Amino acid sequence: MCGIFGYVNFLVDKTRGEIVDTLIDGLQKLEYRGYDSAGIAIDGDKKGETLIVKTAGKVKALKDKLDNSNIERSTIFDSHVGIAHTRWATHGQPMESNCHPHRSDPEAEFVVVHNGIITNYRELKTLLVSKGYKFESETDTECIAKLFKHIYDTNLKANIEVDFNELVKQVLYELEGSYGLLVKSSHYPGEAVGTRKGSPLLVGVKTEKKLKVDFVDVEFPEQNQEVPVGSAKNGELNGFIPLSGAEASLRTSQSRAFLADDGLPMPAEFFFSSDPASVVQHTKKVLYLEDDDIAHVYDGELHIHRAKKNAGDSTTRPIQTLEMELNEIMKGPYTHFMQKEIFEQPDSTFNTMRGRIDFENHQINLGGLKAFLPAIRRSRRIIMIACGTSYHSCLATRSIFEELNEIPVTVELASDFLDRRSPVFRDDTCVFVSQSGETADSILALQYCLERGALSVGIVNSVGSSMSRQTHCGVHINAGPEIGVASTKAYTSQYIALVMFALSLSNDSISQQQRHREIIDGLQKIPEQIKTVLKLENKIKTLCTEHLNDQRSLLLLGRGYQFATALEGALKIKEISYMHSEGVLAGELKHGVLALVDDKLPIIAFATRDSLFPKVLNAINQVVSRDGRPIVICDEGDTVLSSSQTTATLHVPTTVDCLQGLLNVIPLQLMSYWLAVNRGIDVDFPRNLAKSVTVE
Ligand code: UD1
Ligand code: BG6
Repeated sequence: MCGIFGYVNFLVDKTRGEIVDTLIDGLQKLEYRGYDSAGIAIDGDKKGETLIVKTAGKVKALKDKLDNSNIERSTIFDSHVGIAHTRWATHGQPMESNCHPHRSDPEAEFVVVHNGIITNYRELKTLLVSKGYKFESETDTECIAKLFKHIYDTNLKANIEVDFNELVKQVLYELEGSYGLLVKSSHYPGEAVGTRKGSPLLVGVKTEKKLKVDFVDVEFPEQNQEVPVGSAKNGELNGFIPLSGAEASLRTSQSRAFLADDGLPMPAEFFFSSDPASVVQHTKKVLYLEDDDIAHVYDGELHIHRAKKNAGDSTTRPIQTLEMELNEIMKGPYTHFMQKEIFEQPDSTFNTMRGRIDFENHQINLGGLKAFLPAIRRSRRIIMIACGTSYHSCLATRSIFEELNEIPVTVELASDFLDRRSPVFRDDTCVFVSQSGETADSILALQYCLERGALSVGIVNSVGSSMSRQTHCGVHINAGPEIGVASTKAYTSQYIALVMFALSLSNDSISQQQRHREIIDGLQKIPEQIKTVLKLENKIKTLCTEHLNDQRSLLLLGRGYQFATALEGALKIKEISYMHSEGVLAGELKHGVLALVDDKLPIIAFATRDSLFPKVLNAINQVVSRDGRPIVICDEGDTVLSSSQTTATLHVPTTVDCLQGLLNVIPLQLMSYWLAVNRGIDVDFPRNLAKSVTVE
């Protein structure tokens, strides 16, 4: 979804061209999140001049626009702030006027890029319009830029020279909603301010010399400097009382991390971003902002401010080292990220288990859950909550939780769970599954459960994401960055992480030992077995070309463990090939869906042999007797139907029943990929979808 990127160089000479290239490259690394427009703001040639270039469409279109503009690339800046954004429309169509950065006025004294939603923007807009501000877009964001100027000018009229971070505090007092925000201003040349509330933002730090300490102190105001919260609803901005000039402009400290031996400022570069993927190629040293942190970069230093000090607030923020490698987010030899991620699954599934399963002694050790297992075992029920593909991984593993633990398990779509305001109690364990850890519906559901005192467990791919940090405990699935919008390797890794979770919970049970051994032995073989399934690619490609490309609709039949696979396969196909597809519980066929079956409708049936195989076969026979010719996915060496009764048979290796979905889903991932490629669809960026949906 929306992405923020900012680049600050201090005492490091860069041409304007290099700065633009860094911003464009940063945006390109954010593209995978899904967006519909992009823009940047940089310094112009005249003093105080800010250039804003933006366009609807891809980052490539923005790059072309910049290349074709008469912006001088060779001008050298030894200190400069550039900000950039990819937008996914929420308020206002994807068109140039709605793209970020937004400006405060025609001179662009303040320019902002913003992720999230300002919920009181209408009131703010009404107020600012009454003060003479002319709005140029339909966005909620623009009121932030205007508000900056309005409050700055109000201070100025009162003869108060306000520090940039202080100004941000005064603006934030007026905003309601969520934001990741980055601001640049001609009144504060060389300075950048970033802040967040409910939307991720981090700062990458690159210095020639080693930092003195690997943390930044949090700077709190003196009590008499705290500002009461106000709101524009009163028809007036009353959220701040201007501080006395002396207090307001005071820069109290030098950041310990950036102290140079000779006392002179150090050359430094800073990278603001909503996603580490755009920072990792520049630096691995990053500081994740917490909600309400204000990161202020000036004179080559990073300062963290907060408007208020509450009891128990941490007084430092660590500068962490990113473990992600750049090549992990590149496509390698593959045409699309999705294809690369499908083929990464032998490794990603292995990485999910690495260091956590002792295959020899059949022991599972999930470091992030260990201390919480007794509390989870005591819970009255487990509620699994997620969206999209992550929801399917919950469905796929629910029955193994129930079988091994005898704790009732419910699986919830986060949005529906919130709509129903479902009852949650202190003795519930709520498991949140998310690739990104930033999905708004899932985060809201998490907050809802936290408020009700339930224990929260995260099963998350992105380390440092909101969900990973806000849950009480959890498991990082360690699948590596997933860039293709269609989730593939995250699904198989979530599935494995959940199975390991179910096994850990029932570790103590003597009666389950045999079943444990069987599943752990099964898990050990999964990466190799996935390699075998991936060899089906050419057969699947041909199948798509010969039988499926021109179809408009597809049914997937599954039962028991394979119902989740049918739903996930159907989701993959619709999201990237735009073909209508539906996962159907085989037992439900006769209750309605059978009416659709004829000799034309393509049907895929999961017929691997588990205890429900006879019932699935029954459903398949019902299809065949109505002239349906299904594509059958079955065990190696098995012949479920004669070749005249099928369109094709795809053989997959056999594993333990509760793991079979890990192998059966792969042909569907490949099928959706090739259907989309054959239809000329941009596989990694399907229309109308975003990788990480950070709005409700
Ligand atoms: C951790 C380290 C890993 C190291 C291993 C060695 C991290 C991120 N992981 O992995 O690099 O190799 O120890 O023992 O530093 N958590 C949540 N919510 C979530 C996910 C995780 O609260 O959604 C918490 C866990 O409870 C845990 C921490 O984050 O406290 C790290 O989780 P995880 O990476 O799964 O732990 P380990 O596998 O032990
Ligand atoms: C989006 C994606 O809708 O969010 C899906 O397009 C994804 O592929 C869903 O499954 C949930 O995302 P996450 O990050 O919470 O797993």
